[in-house]
Amino acid sequence: MNVERKTEEAILKIGDCEIKLPIITGTEGEKAIDIANLRKATGYVTIDPSFMNTAACYSQITYIDGERGVLRYRGIPIEDLVKLGSFTKVAYLLVNGHLPTPEQSRKFSHLLNINSLLHEDMRHFFDQFPRGAHPMHILSTMINALAAFYPNVDLMSLSEDIDASTARLISIVRTMAAVAYKKSIGEPIVYPRCDLKYCGNFLNMMFDSPVRPYTVRPEIERILNVLFILHADHEQNCSTTAVRTIGSAQVNLYATISAGMSALSGPLHGGANQEVITMLQQIANDGNISKFLQRAKDKNDPFRLMGFGHRVYKTYDPRARIIKHECEELFTQLNIEDPLLQVAREVEQAALTDEYFIERNLYPNIDFYSGLVYHAIGIPENMFTVMFALARLPGWIAHWKEMIGTHTRIVRPRQLYIGNAKSEL
Ligand code: SDX
Repeated sequence: MNVERKTEEAILKIGDCEIKLPIITGTEGEKAIDIANLRKATGYVTIDPSFMNTAACYSQITYIDGERGVLRYRGIPIEDLVKLGSFTKVAYLLVNGHLPTPEQSRKFSHLLNINSLLHEDMRHFFDQFPRGAHPMHILSTMINALAAFYPNVDLMSLSEDIDASTARLISIVRTMAAVAYKKSIGEPIVYPRCDLKYCGNFLNMMFDSPVRPYTVRPEIERILNVLFILHADHEQNCSTTAVRTIGSAQVNLYATISAGMSALSGPLHGGANQEVITMLQQIANDGNISKFLQRAKDKNDPFRLMGFGHRVYKTYDPRARIIKHECEELFTQLNIEDPLLQVAREVEQAALTDEYFIERNLYPNIDFYSGLVYHAIGIPENMFTVMFALARLPGWIAHWKEMIGTHTRIVRPRQLYIGNAKSEL
């Protein structure tokens, strides 16, 4: 990736040694000190656990301004992309860097359709999982297994049409998610249909049944597209960093995505949407919001206000703002009365006026309201993180493609050893 190196420099003085480090300026004016030659020039390394201050890569995919609550995919604001109402168009944008032409859209839809069927031999794998297995564990296992069923797909050199591998992944994994759900409730699996679009197909595979025909309602299909668009990418979050790290060892795409899926399942990451609903139900049952806020502030209490706070956003997560509005619209449209929405509003109001949360810039993040929408459209709580994963697939693929395409060297950070000095046996 040809990054324009500005003439600006930082001067680092260590004892009598003084070195100049180039300062790189990003598209939006953000600044980075290039330390690529630091160790060679000084013998020193930098240390920054959890990468709070470290940019791990150059990227052209997503831009976030955490102070101003800005999120753009390939330069387009998220507020404009949700109006497109098409998750697959946004998936194409993330992976290819531009929205598809009508012809490219047609081809991509065709690829999604022909890649939507699960290999019949894979179906039997689902029978081997315990009935109560969490669908995220099933999915990450089954995605890994795809490499065994499509061994000749050489993804490393991107020689295989990336659209085909993208379509295969986001289409089959959607089918796998629905199969995992049907298996968990003991119902026959529902096959994808060629007359339904991506989100409508998923809803149909989840909720159709031989004895209970399901009709895809446009307002539900639309809001699912919106939620998937909002979750599609978020630059170097934990699971995307896992994908870029694992992928740098030239692991095949399926195993790389499976690793991202595992990272996302953590309760501090994508698992939070399921935790939010559990927390709101606890608060609703107890009735005392301030008690839970006190617990969230108590360092001796492991309880955290789930769906609040973010490593990058130090203001309202723009995605949460959209989801909150969409949630209220949907509830009105479908005449839904969910007491948890009122609890969520009151928790938000209490936290946003509380010194502790204000001082630490803790605001609702994407997970705070998303579970309420999934609840309303019938998605069971143990599938909430699966929904996040389905949506994040194009983001992971885009970052994997960018990393492979820039011939990234294998990711292998340094450390500072502070263990035992040399000792005798
Ligand atoms: C996602 O990175 C991404 O982009 C992720 C994501 C994506 O799209 O990929 O946006 C998706 O993962 C959203 C986040 C979902 N997780 C949660 O909602 C879990 C609850 N949130 C927290 O665990 C926390 O806010 C994190 C994990 C989200 C962020 O953690 P950080 O950046 O490491 O922040 P921190 O723990 O250093 O917090 C700073 C302070 C601490 O207090 P002090 O030590 O300064 O006194 O804020 C406190 C924290 O204790 N704090 C919270 C809190 N979040 C932070 N206190 C109570 N409740 C919270 N939720």
